[in-house]
Amino acid sequence: VVKYLADYKAPTHKIETVDLEFHLDDTQTQVFSKMKITPVNGNTLELNGEELKLKSVKVNGEEFSNYKEENEILTLTGLPSEAFTLEIHNEINPKANTALDGLYKSGGMFCSQNEPEGFRRITYFIDRPDNLSVFTTKIIADKKDYPFLLSNGNLIESGDLEDGKHFAVWNDPFAKPAYLYALVAGDLAVIEDTFKTKSGRDVKLQVFVDKGNEEKSHHAMESLKKSMKWDEKRFRLEYDLDIYMIVAVDSFNMGAMENKGLNIFNSAYVLASKETAEDRNFFGIESVVGHEYFHNWTGNRVTCRDWFQLTLKEGLTVFRDQEFSADLNSRSVCRINDVRNLKAAQFPEDAGPQSHPIQPKSYIEMNNFYTMTIYEKGAEVIRMYHTLLGEEGFQRGMDKYFELYDGQAVTTADFTHAMSVANDNYDFSQFRRWYDQAGTPVLDITTKYDEAAKEFTLTVNQSTPATPGQPTKEPFHMPFLLGLLDSAGNDMTLALKNRDDQNDLDRGLLHIKADTETFVFANVNERPVASLNRNFSAPVVLRSDLTDEDFVFLMANDNDDFNRYEAGQALALKNIHAMLKDENHQVDELFIKAWGSILNDNNIDEEFKAVCLSLPSMIDVAATIDIPNYRAIHEAKDKLFKLLANTYKLELASIYNDLSTERPFKVDAKAMGERKLRGFVLACLSTVEEHKELARECFKYATNMTDMMNSLSVMVNENLPGCQESLKEFYDKFKDQTLVMQKWLSVQASSCDDTTFDKVQELMKDEVFDMNVPNLVSALIGSFARNKVQFNHESGRGMKFIAEMIRKVDAINPQSASRLAGAFNDYRKMPADLKEIAKAELTAIVESDKTSKNVYEKLSKTLNS
Ligand code: ARG
Ligand code: ZN
Repeated sequence: VVKYLADYKAPTHKIETVDLEFHLDDTQTQVFSKMKITPVNGNTLELNGEELKLKSVKVNGEEFSNYKEENEILTLTGLPSEAFTLEIHNEINPKANTALDGLYKSGGMFCSQNEPEGFRRITYFIDRPDNLSVFTTKIIADKKDYPFLLSNGNLIESGDLEDGKHFAVWNDPFAKPAYLYALVAGDLAVIEDTFKTKSGRDVKLQVFVDKGNEEKSHHAMESLKKSMKWDEKRFRLEYDLDIYMIVAVDSFNMGAMENKGLNIFNSAYVLASKETAEDRNFFGIESVVGHEYFHNWTGNRVTCRDWFQLTLKEGLTVFRDQEFSADLNSRSVCRINDVRNLKAAQFPEDAGPQSHPIQPKSYIEMNNFYTMTIYEKGAEVIRMYHTLLGEEGFQRGMDKYFELYDGQAVTTADFTHAMSVANDNYDFSQFRRWYDQAGTPVLDITTKYDEAAKEFTLTVNQSTPATPGQPTKEPFHMPFLLGLLDSAGNDMTLALKNRDDQNDLDRGLLHIKADTETFVFANVNERPVASLNRNFSAPVVLRSDLTDEDFVFLMANDNDDFNRYEAGQALALKNIHAMLKDENHQVDELFIKAWGSILNDNNIDEEFKAVCLSLPSMIDVAATIDIPNYRAIHEAKDKLFKLLANTYKLELASIYNDLSTERPFKVDAKAMGERKLRGFVLACLSTVEEHKELARECFKYATNMTDMMNSLSVMVNENLPGCQESLKEFYDKFKDQTLVMQKWLSVQASSCDDTTFDKVQELMKDEVFDMNVPNLVSALIGSFARNKVQFNHESGRGMKFIAEMIRKVDAINPQSASRLAGAFNDYRKMPADLKEIAKAELTAIVESDKTSKNVYEKLSKTLNS
């Protein structure tokens, strides 16, 4: 069944309060629900319910039988037209819930995941985000196995019962939709701290983890305190309950969930120690802890009217977590990494069969729409408001947003309204197209310098490719940051000759609105080098007539760090494409030199240096090719990488030595940057004949997981001496730690080498692997599915294997399977023989009645592309 945004209707009833009582049991949990309901429209009530065993229904205390259950809807008719109470008793089976949606068991603990529509798998309810209710929960369970009984809000009562049982009662004073409801019961370890809010209230902070993992949870706790402080400072937002709990679980479909006062996290985003976590994990924990905390205002206090509005809370909250990371770490590097991620994952999504606007118009399975587009492109759209209005104007808009909508379930149009009225009724009418039109816009830019008139002309042409269901597009309004550099590398003062919209020129901001825009700059005394779309102000594909010399100049001189990086990428891309066309292509001397000057520049910090020197991803290279040959792309990149490394082997070796002196382990931007550059340099040197032993040596003496994984992945990818011993030692040391084993599986499944296929089959049988745990599926099968060379293996074996895995995993966990199905998004761009194979596999899955709607929706779109 397809759901449409256009079909939105307000709910017929409101559930004002709900009192829940759980008698927890592995296979027969009893759920008693007592709801106070106000009718809004009519006396027929439809409640959602899936996989539930209905035991009894009472209305105003009386047995009630005027209902029928059909297609996962419980319809009650002839209800009172005044407020009434509805009592329902039903039974659920948490242990059989391998979909990890609703109430389920992870390890020995009970936990829940209700966004977007999991609550209906716990009990019958108006399970939609515009139904806001006050929840009270009584949990009854065995005291020995489940000493901790948790739910949202405040603990108001607890005590012992007979037969070794005990109970706890929680009340959340804030009305909320059911997707924010949570329940946890388990035998856990907890670390505690407190945070004093700006108005002086003490908030108790707790992080619950499996026993023995206490020491690994301090980074998450520190991150939580930083998040609370930052949100007070940058957004003036204060926490609103007396307690904030985070629970880490090993089996979880996503990164984490912002349930009110009781976040539930994938343990990968909580647990870290220097021996077991890489720097990117430390960074990821800080960012996800922040993200979930920031949802308390953008998501919980103000929530979504319906799921088509998902980007209202996700785009905004990703923007907030990106800004949090940027304020706490290196702003430039954060921006570069966010854009790299956008280009590697969102741009392809938007160019493929799953393409959808940040506010989709229809869906079959909402879980399929927790996408890079809703989240990351959504965050880019919020960033554009920020660029258009500036920090102050944006913050005025945020204040207005909370003033108007606190406690409500609203739409993206309401957000735009708040931003507008807080800023002199700023005109966002054209800007709103970003919510409705899918696809990545392309900007084609030509420049012209008129020596005699001292004028510089910039012509910007925008176009957006057709996407499924959207053959033609209207032009977008986008903020375009630009600088004109003089020959000394300084920014010129900008003056526009032909237009009156000069008001944003002092910050280098141009407004692009029409299909074609021409900007004529006056008083330009020498031919400038244009730095275009600084800081990636508009999320677009840029094509310009800038020359190689211009890029080299920007790499060395631009005041915008993002464009220094981007210029290097543009040059590298040009060379890789040339190598793909002609295998005898001589790599441009200019590029080799420019790469060397970044390498040898002592004024650039280590992390920025490492990202600037990195080559574009395979996906970046493939983006503009109709039918990419991934093996050829891999080889071209490899060849370029080797050439650069061999050209600069002396300099690289000296940097490596400098970075290898003993230093204390710290988790700050400086120390992480040093490790990142050292890892990058190690990868370079490992392609040089005389340094083939270096990675093994680095591995042997590594005292932290970052160095360990950097060296291990180089050994695996390059098949270097010591590789097998290292893998074995690593396994023996960490086989009991699933998060570390996920790295071990992933690094092996990601190797482009042809032996990887057999290796993966073997690893599936290893005792550390478990098909029921999404992290493990993603680490082993997902890594192989993302391994472009092996997935697209000429024989077809790679994609046949992934198709088989989609079927197997789908029977266990449709969300996990649906993610794997994304591997086929390249369908349209496959060579004919592979496409034939893919077509047969996908058709079989789509036509099977065993296929979940998650997988069906994705693969039917894929086949139609
Ligand atoms: N709201 C969560 C977050 O972004 C994501 C939860 C999505 N869950 C799901 N099963 N699709 O932090
Ligand atoms: Zn979120």
